[in-house]
Amino acid sequence: MKTTISEVSHFIEKEVKIGAWLANKRSSGKIAFLQLRDGTGFIQGVVVKAEVDEEVFQKAKSITQETSLYVTGVVKEDERSPFGYELSVTNIEVIHEATDFPITPKEHGTEFLMDNRHLWLRSKKQHAVMKIRNEIIRATYEFFNNNGFAKVDPPILTGSAPEGTTELFQTKYFDEDAYLSQSGQLYMEAAAMALGKVFSFGPTFRAEKSKTRRHLIEFWMIEPEMAFYEFEDNLIVQENYVSYLAQSVLKNCQLELNILGRDLSKLEKIQAPFPRISYDDAIKFLHEKGFNDIEWGDDFGSPHETAIAESFDKPVFITHYPTKIKPFYMQPHPERDDVVLCADLIAPEGYGEIIGGSERIHDYDLLKQRLEEHGLTSDAYKWYLELRQYGSVPHSGFGLGLERTVAWLSGVEHVRESIPFPRLLNRLYP
Ligand code: 4AD
Ligand code: MG
Repeated sequence: MKTTISEVSHFIEKEVKIGAWLANKRSSGKIAFLQLRDGTGFIQGVVVKAEVDEEVFQKAKSITQETSLYVTGVVKEDERSPFGYELSVTNIEVIHEATDFPITPKEHGTEFLMDNRHLWLRSKKQHAVMKIRNEIIRATYEFFNNNGFAKVDPPILTGSAPEGTTELFQTKYFDEDAYLSQSGQLYMEAAAMALGKVFSFGPTFRAEKSKTRRHLIEFWMIEPEMAFYEFEDNLIVQENYVSYLAQSVLKNCQLELNILGRDLSKLEKIQAPFPRISYDDAIKFLHEKGFNDIEWGDDFGSPHETAIAESFDKPVFITHYPTKIKPFYMQPHPERDDVVLCADLIAPEGYGEIIGGSERIHDYDLLKQRLEEHGLTSDAYKWYLELRQYGSVPHSGFGLGLERTVAWLSGVEHVRESIPFPRLLNRLYP
């Protein structure tokens, strides 16, 4: 019976055939232990010299790392295995022999691993991170579908720049200029006026010259947008969503979290509600902690965010940032025009901002004024302004960065490991 490693529990004490790769092996004169992987999981194949044809045993002893095989064997329950099962091998058919696989079980440097990303993805840890990424995507669709949101896909080629004009990837669009999308938000606002509650999931691009553990040039964002939701309503969606992600990963990725050595107690605490601290209080807090390099009106750097996050064991909302350091579309505070109704959600353990969100300006004249102040007077924003001419309503939304969230929940240090093929400042290969 042909099956996969993830399905072997249905075949205890039965013979199965599995297509797999050899991840690693150990052998002596009498026995060989094959670490097999097939993408769905990992299992140890045990080849006992006295129990198989001599030819099979010799094959087991000589096969090289990453050779592809069909392995036939009897499934055994095995408590010592992290996966719970073992394969008592009866036959091996080599499909394709791999010679000199570059990533051996020894330590390799990061640049070498990144140059071999197409092969590095096969390793146990990278496999675990990709499975967690997949679970976060699955749980995202589940959460928003369960809560009455419709998925809407904004365009990737656009004429507008929601997050500032300095970080755009420009391209020719026949005889016009176009940009790769920085954020689908403006389109999602139009969609919310049509469908009420919507979310998007797609790639976004920032031509940022940042080289930090939190920055990618191409990253994936989940962008919900809700009609009739005001500032506080927006925060409630965010804390419920992020809690749902953490709890889904805990429940469905135990094996992966163990492989990565993730501290589960940290994830168990990720339950709504999350604390809120205003920008004003965050500045005071930082001054008390001895940060003299920041003044009211400055944006936070990662040491500041980390210091604030460290005083909580859940993600924390920093609310009401100064108007002048935030994008043009944010609704002003009703009693103060120096701050806006926005919040960034800062993850614990130094992972930084995972969400940026706000209530949006719904007044036509104010939005027009803000666009002018930001020099965004081209026809590209005409349609966006028109949304405020026909039954404009208060509305809010946010963007969650997938890779930062994957890195945080998996516990990997750098976002480059949380996306299959990272685009970084100096990396377009592979
Ligand atoms: O804070 P940002 O720039 O917000 C927006 O783009 C809004 N238009 C979203 C919205 O309201 N619909 O980005 C949102 C999130 C950040 O909090 C961060 O998690 C992630 O996107 N992000 C990045 N992730 C990796 N690399 C980068 N260069 C990122 N820039 C932002
Ligand atoms: Mg932001």
